[in-house]
Formats: sequence, structure tokens, C-alpha cells
Amino acid sequence: MGFPEIRMRRLRSSAAMRRMVRETTLSVDDLVYPLFARPGSNVREPIASMSDCFHLSADRIADEAVQVADLGIPAVLLFGLPERKDEKGSEAWSESGAVQQAIQAIKKRVPGLLVITDVCLCAYTTTGHCGVIKGHRLDNDATCELLAKMALSHAQAGADIVAPSDMMDGRIGAIRQVLERNGFDHVAILSYAAKFASAFYGPFRDAAESAPSPEMAAAGLGDRKTYQMDPANAREAVREIALDIEEGADMVMVKPALSFLDVICRARQQFDCPIAAYNVSGEYMMLHAAAERGLLDRDAAMMEVLTSIKRAGADIVITYHAKAAASLLGRR
Ligand code: PBG
Repeated sequence: MGFPEIRMRRLRSSAAMRRMVRETTLSVDDLVYPLFARPGSNVREPIASMSDCFHLSADRIADEAVQVADLGIPAVLLFGLPERKDEKGSEAWSESGAVQQAIQAIKKRVPGLLVITDVCLCAYTTTGHCGVIKGHRLDNDATCELLAKMALSHAQAGADIVAPSDMMDGRIGAIRQVLERNGFDHVAILSYAAKFASAFYGPFRDAAESAPSPEMAAAGLGDRKTYQMDPANAREAVREIALDIEEGADMVMVKPALSFLDVICRARQQFDCPIAAYNVSGEYMMLHAAAERGLLDRDAAMMEVLTSIKRAGADIVITYHAKAAASLLGRR
């Protein structure tokens, strides 16, 4: 036989042909854009560790939210930096906290934009841990109570979705219960269900000033490995996700995205609720740094990465690339 019987290249022969047989389409509807809220007014400071990202006060976050909504992005994810930290992270549930103010400012200007809030104590505690330390350990159940208070204060400020990222056991149930009891049955929970103890959070921890403190490191508590998952485990991720759905999570997340595409794929096969994936700070900056050195085409690499996360099975992609990707998609 002098020729291949099946020629796969026929299906790649033109742009129109490729478009017609494309299996995965990234849409602006899939994107969530993270933002960093700071106390004060008229603050817009570039974040040194993360290109094109800013620390914003509530008024400037509202300006940003208008742009995000104009691009067609359906949701933002808010992180907060407190004025003052303490052992319990009490500013996390303060009515006048940066996140609470930002939620109100956004809802006033762009009521249709979904506001998701990160629920975790690490940016608010002097220890830099995602919960309270008692003795030499992180007190799981005491932390869940504080997280529920934090989630409730976000709901009271007008958040549509709360997203706990702490990895304590039982926090979804604790938050769901407090929301129901206080009349916030309409507020959804997006659980960071399979969150791994990853090296790719580095730039974020600089941005959120949320790394475990030197004192904690000296005491042998310098990492988050007793609560975030071991990157070697995928079956355990399935158990984590199942538990969070049982406790009342409406949507679940896998984080980071790129080194855990197989986990996203497994989650897609086993669960029917919406699945989000977080394209984290280190993944974002890896691409930016390479592009700045002229090693790759940033836009092309960005679209490839975001499409791959969707192809793996994610419905929702949380990414610092969201605005850039939305502009590109709008121009197609
Ligand atoms: C808070 C939190 C972190 C991220 C999101 N929420 C940092 C961490 O767990 O240390 C990381 C996000 C990113 O790297 O983009 N617990």
C-alpha cells in the first residue's frame, strides 16, 4: 500500500476545518478574575511579585469591577489584606474590613457582577497560618468557627459566593449551617476542596503577605502541609471533594491547575457539580517571566494553558490572565 489509509491531517487543513472539529472552546463565561482589596481610599499599588496585578482600595476595586464586567467576565474573586493582624485574624470578620467594603462598593457600581470571596485566615493572622494555633497545633474546630464568622460577614456585605480555601476538616458544613441560620440560604459555597501544598503559591504569598511567619518556621510550623494536600495524592483528592459536596458545597475547586490536570479530569468523571480550577500565581508568573525573557509568546501560551484546563474538565477557570484572555476572545 503506497499511502496511509487514514489521513488525520485532512481535519487540520484549514482554519475553518480546525474550527469546525474543535473539541474544547474557552469562553469568557468560564473566567473568574482575582482581585486584592486593601484598606483606605484611592489606593492602586502594583504588586511587585505579580505582573499587571494591583493592591486596590474599595473605590478603585469598584472601578476595576466595571472594566471586568465590560469585558464580559462573570465574576471576581476577592482577597483581603487587613490593617492589623492578630493571633485569631479578627479583622477577617470586621464590618469595615477591606473585603467587606470592596463587596459593597462593587455591588453598588456593578450589581450584576458575581462577587466570590476567599474565606481563609492566613492574611489576617500574625502566624501566617490559615487557622488558630493552640499549643503546637492548628486547632481545626476552633478555626472552623472563625471561618464561619468570616463567611457570614462576607454574606452580610453582599457576597454571592463564599470560597473557603483553608482546608480544615468540616468547614463547609460549619459555614453552610451558619449561613442557613442567619438567612443566607441563597449564598453559594465554592469549596477549595482539593487544595495542594504547592510551591506555586509563592508570588501570591508575597502579594497577600500571608506566608507562615519566621517565628512559626522556627517552631517547626513553617509550611501548610498538615492541612493542604500532598501533591502526590489523587485518590485522596476524590475523597476530599466527596466530603465537601456532602457537607453542602455547591461547587468544588482543584488548585493549582497545571500540575493537577489529572485531578481535574478525575473530578469531572466522578462528580456532576460545577468544577473550578485555580490557575495560581506561580503558574501565571512562570509564563510572564518566560515571555519577558522573549522565550515564548505570552498570548499563545496563555490560551493554550487556559484551554488545557478546560479540556481536562474544569467548568470555571480562576486566573490572573482573565482580563487579557477576555480581550483576546472578544477580538476573535
Ligand atoms: C489562602 C490562599 C492562597 C491562595 C489562594 N488562597 C495561598 C496559600 O494557600 O498559601 C493561592 C493563590 C495563588 O497562588 O494564586 N489560603
